[in-house]
Amino acid sequence: MLTKTFGSAVQGVNAYTITIEVVVSAGTLFYVVGLPDNAIKESQQRIEAALKLRGYRMPRTKVVVNMAPADIRKEGAAYDLPIALGILHASQQLNTDRLHEYIIMGEMSLDGNLRPIRGVLPIAIQARKEGFKGIILPKENAEEAAIVNNLDVIAVASMQEAIDFFEGRLEIEPTKVDTRDLFLHAVNKYTADFADVQGQENIKRALEIAAAGGHNVIMIGPPGAGKTMLAKRLPSILPPLSMQEALETTKIHSVAGKLAGGGLLSTRPFRAPHHTISDVALVGGGSNPQPGEISLSHNGVLFLDELPEFKRTVLEVMRQPLEERRVTISRAKVSIEFPANFMLIASMNPCPCGYYNHPEKECVCGPGVVQKYLNKVSGPLLDRIDLHVEVTPVTFDQMTETRKAETSAEIQPRVDKARQVQEMRFKDYPDVHSNAMMPPQMVKDLCEINPAGRMLLKTAMERLGLSARAYDRILKVARTIADLAGTEEIQIQHLAEAIQYRSLDREGWAG
Ligand SMILES: Nc1ncnc2c1ncn2[C@@H]1O[C@H](COP(=O)(O)OP(=O)(O)O)[C@@H](O)[C@H]1O
Ligand SMILES: [Mg+2]
Ligand SMILES: [Zn+2]
Repeated sequence: MLTKTFGSAVQGVNAYTITIEVVVSAGTLFYVVGLPDNAIKESQQRIEAALKLRGYRMPRTKVVVNMAPADIRKEGAAYDLPIALGILHASQQLNTDRLHEYIIMGEMSLDGNLRPIRGVLPIAIQARKEGFKGIILPKENAEEAAIVNNLDVIAVASMQEAIDFFEGRLEIEPTKVDTRDLFLHAVNKYTADFADVQGQENIKRALEIAAAGGHNVIMIGPPGAGKTMLAKRLPSILPPLSMQEALETTKIHSVAGKLAGGGLLSTRPFRAPHHTISDVALVGGGSNPQPGEISLSHNGVLFLDELPEFKRTVLEVMRQPLEERRVTISRAKVSIEFPANFMLIASMNPCPCGYYNHPEKECVCGPGVVQKYLNKVSGPLLDRIDLHVEVTPVTFDQMTETRKAETSAEIQPRVDKARQVQEMRFKDYPDVHSNAMMPPQMVKDLCEINPAGRMLLKTAMERLGLSARAYDRILKVARTIADLAGTEEIQIQHLAEAIQYRSLDREGWAG
């Protein structure tokens, strides 16, 4: 007898329906065809053990399991449940005519209990698209799948519950989550507040600009100046996630198995990987390609603290994704893409000892060392960072000042307003959401400057020895500053401020 069940395979952030055909006939073999990996072969053992323990039997005849299409890589043990149910049905131990209505996924332990799987959100999205009535999956994954409307999410704890459900002995109410409601009442989970930082008004201003325009930013300053403290407060002033962005980001976290039982992500991610991270962990990859930190930061922030400490190769592999806002991983047969539209915030000391340019302390680095230190990051990354901010430690007087600093809740609405201006500006450009994302031609069209501004920019570029690549960056930042000020025109003071944020481009900055 031939039985068909349906599972799903995830490639990148997309899912593809897998048809599992089970044939039981004369003979004594068990085999699986359709390019499965070892995990699927091992599933035979788990399935056999679970069937026995639950009073069912593995047919003592020939069992062929065919998983199609063959050219889609099927990884992991997540097909245990659809294979087991297929075998039971093909050998007349499961009596139902509803198997074809559901995508069925779940890894089984030897006793038939189910373990959570990865990539449930893309699987659920695909299931609905293809008109399946529902999806049968482990309990832990239910909320994640329930993000998708109009799909019956049937959560089961074990193979037995799935059997009982199909045979009509067990009614299971589909899991429902009011995603929209959860989303609208989401509270920002980032509680570190800018009010904790004394002084540093100019740095806070730079971070406000960065948040408003989605600009990458680097902070340079001695140890203890407050760089880490400031960076950790950036998420508290970011604009809220849109529903579309939330779905995109949640999909990536779902594929990475990082949702930990939760549903839709409602705040922008803030990822701060340690500098010992590998290339693959940062940009993604592996034999069954998984998203890396840059994709987990999609629509949020990637914080690279102590940038020069990261391996040079790590900084180099980030270069292209930073430009393209996605990462492409090529494998023999397919090339897989993960979105990676993140805002980079980096910090660094100005030199190995940390005290180059320090107002009081002496730098003990030898000649050439400072430049060499800077070069480590300049090639791969500095070109792609709009704002360079020099952080000097607050003075004792500033530290002990009793005047209350502005709270994140006071700053955030200004960021929000500037983002709304940008949303209007880019409404006809689906790929551009912020000033930082403007391609060169758009910068030309949308960042017009008057003759006085042109004069200022020309003088600045000559006097400070700014490179041509700094030019577009200055215009984009000036555009954001004008948006924060609520003016359509980029005025001379907006340009002047933007020029200040190019300190690392200056000729002779380090020597
Ligand atoms: N402006 C400031 N206001 C309040 N505390 C500060 C400030 N700057 C530094 N600190 C204190 O100094 C500590 C060290 O700052 P940190 O952010 O780690 O510096 P950096 O990363 O530049 O080495 C902070 O945890 C904080 O307690
Ligand atoms: Mg630090
Ligand atoms: Zn030094």
